[in-house]
Amino acid sequence: MCGIVGYLGKEDAREIILNGLRKLEYRGYDSAGISLYKKTDNEFMIYKDKGRVAHLESITDFSYDTGLGIGHTRWATHGIPNQNNSHPHQSNTKRFIIVHNGVIENYKELKNDILHQTNFYSDTDTEVIANLIEEFSHTLTVEESIRKTLTLLEGSYALLVIDRLNPEIMYAAKNKSPLLLGIGQGGTIIASDVMAFVGLANDYVTLDDKSFIEVTKDGFIIKDIIGKETPYDIKTIDIDNFNVEKGEYAHFMLKEINEQPSVIRNIISKYFDGDKITLNGNAKKMINDSDRLYIIAAGTSMNAGFIGKEMFEKMAGIPTEVHIASEFAYNMPLLSDNPLFIFISQSGETADLRAVLVNIKRKGYRSLTITNVKTSTLAREADGYVEIFAGPEIAVASTKAYTAQIAILSILAMHVSDNTHLNLRKELSKVAISMENIIDKKEYIKDIVKEYLTKRNCFYIGRGIDYYASLESALKLKEISYIQTEGFAAGELKHGTIALIEEGTPVIAIISQKEINKNTRSNLYEVQSRGAKTIVISTKAVKDSSDLIVLDDVFELFSPLLTIIPTQFIAYYAALERGYDIDKPRNLAKSVTVE
Ligand code: G6P
Repeated sequence: MCGIVGYLGKEDAREIILNGLRKLEYRGYDSAGISLYKKTDNEFMIYKDKGRVAHLESITDFSYDTGLGIGHTRWATHGIPNQNNSHPHQSNTKRFIIVHNGVIENYKELKNDILHQTNFYSDTDTEVIANLIEEFSHTLTVEESIRKTLTLLEGSYALLVIDRLNPEIMYAAKNKSPLLLGIGQGGTIIASDVMAFVGLANDYVTLDDKSFIEVTKDGFIIKDIIGKETPYDIKTIDIDNFNVEKGEYAHFMLKEINEQPSVIRNIISKYFDGDKITLNGNAKKMINDSDRLYIIAAGTSMNAGFIGKEMFEKMAGIPTEVHIASEFAYNMPLLSDNPLFIFISQSGETADLRAVLVNIKRKGYRSLTITNVKTSTLAREADGYVEIFAGPEIAVASTKAYTAQIAILSILAMHVSDNTHLNLRKELSKVAISMENIIDKKEYIKDIVKEYLTKRNCFYIGRGIDYYASLESALKLKEISYIQTEGFAAGELKHGTIALIEEGTPVIAIISQKEINKNTRSNLYEVQSRGAKTIVISTKAVKDSSDLIVLDDVFELFSPLLTIIPTQFIAYYAALERGYDIDKPRNLAKSVTVE
């Protein structure tokens, strides 16, 4: 994964790059580095270390002016996070300095076949790229050397390259990993995400795979890997700078949990005219033309996909399967005659999903992406996309994107169903109000966490749609509090896993459906008899006087939109209590652009 930013222009490159890296830290935060041109000495300086961008800032020299530089924030793939493995990396003579996001799959072969004389100072695949450029530069121009190198690379890369002998130019290249070019007043910025441009450039260009870019003080040229100039479209950024700040909140996660009612209202305003759904594009036709939907996703988006399956099947009668993207990519099941692939991805960049998209496109199947980032790779490359309008989600643990995805899936399901009785807009509005009712009680949830979540492990249980909500609740708790948590089908617990229940093990049951109320409660008695400390999250229609958290009744397929909120708070407060870095949990990254 990783995030990269480069700048060449009249403004302060150091400020622009560090600021950009801060915005890209969601892509990885194991180490960070920067290389800056120091005009007074005609020299490129490099600062890099294990740790966050804040640490990089503290080791960067601010005493000179600079208008050219490249920076990197890392999520380690090859080699542990340490100073040596941090980017930028250099070629053997130090002539070429590069930052890289992606994975070079054939780096060992390239080392053996071409670079057997070269010394390597890190465990990364990236050093190979810098040294190949250097190797070819003995006989070719720099541009030709970089393009020749690109033709040899297998895998994914977003690259920025600097030549110490020519501080008038910055090179970039892209394949599979995201890279965009921002057109600022005083210069050109290139970065992994448009977020790095906010406040600096209003216009930007999305770079295609196998692009090669040269940036100078006069502007930029985009070519293909052969060296032929390619046309491009200029787009305008529509991210509000305010939206990417924490404001009054202690953490982005807390802000984003609190934003959920307004996200639901925003979705209503985007997709309804009165009570009528106004979904443009080809989504409706693509769904109607298919005989089975295949939802492909990862992490939280996959958990939203399970709720989507319930909606498509129960509201619209369309058979729907949900698949883990990384499994589906290389182990495809038998497909129906007219499948439609629905990719759900907050970022729109997840490499596991892209691998499936490339594969199914090759086979001629149709695809639809549901995403928060309409400029993303998956939105661009699918046959259609639907935007979830959650606003930028910064915390690594996804909250508002999950509820927004479910709301959008309900709109899609309703759009293709024959149901004329259900007023979806009204039901969604009710959800927004009920979400606010839970958010108002967050202090109470904090107390529950203190009393109940005292062990190293925990279980969420539920049946049907509550089971799917349990999966997401468990993911939230484990990813930020590091409490080992499983989301379990309530009835299945007794078939083995109940062996893990001991005195004081917290078991949290989600119960929102009448038909399974009694069954899930029986499963609760079973764990209580074995010492578990139980918490029930229920709705008014099924509540018992001993239930700790009781939520409003809403349209039954919408219950996950409510039951998830206390569980987001449970995760938040459990992590807060333990003193962990809530917005940037260990080992994770928000956008996973490697397979
Ligand atoms: C990463 C994030 C998860 C996210 C998953 C899928 O693993 O840490 O929070 O759910 O990627 O991301 P996507 O952008 O495709 O929804």
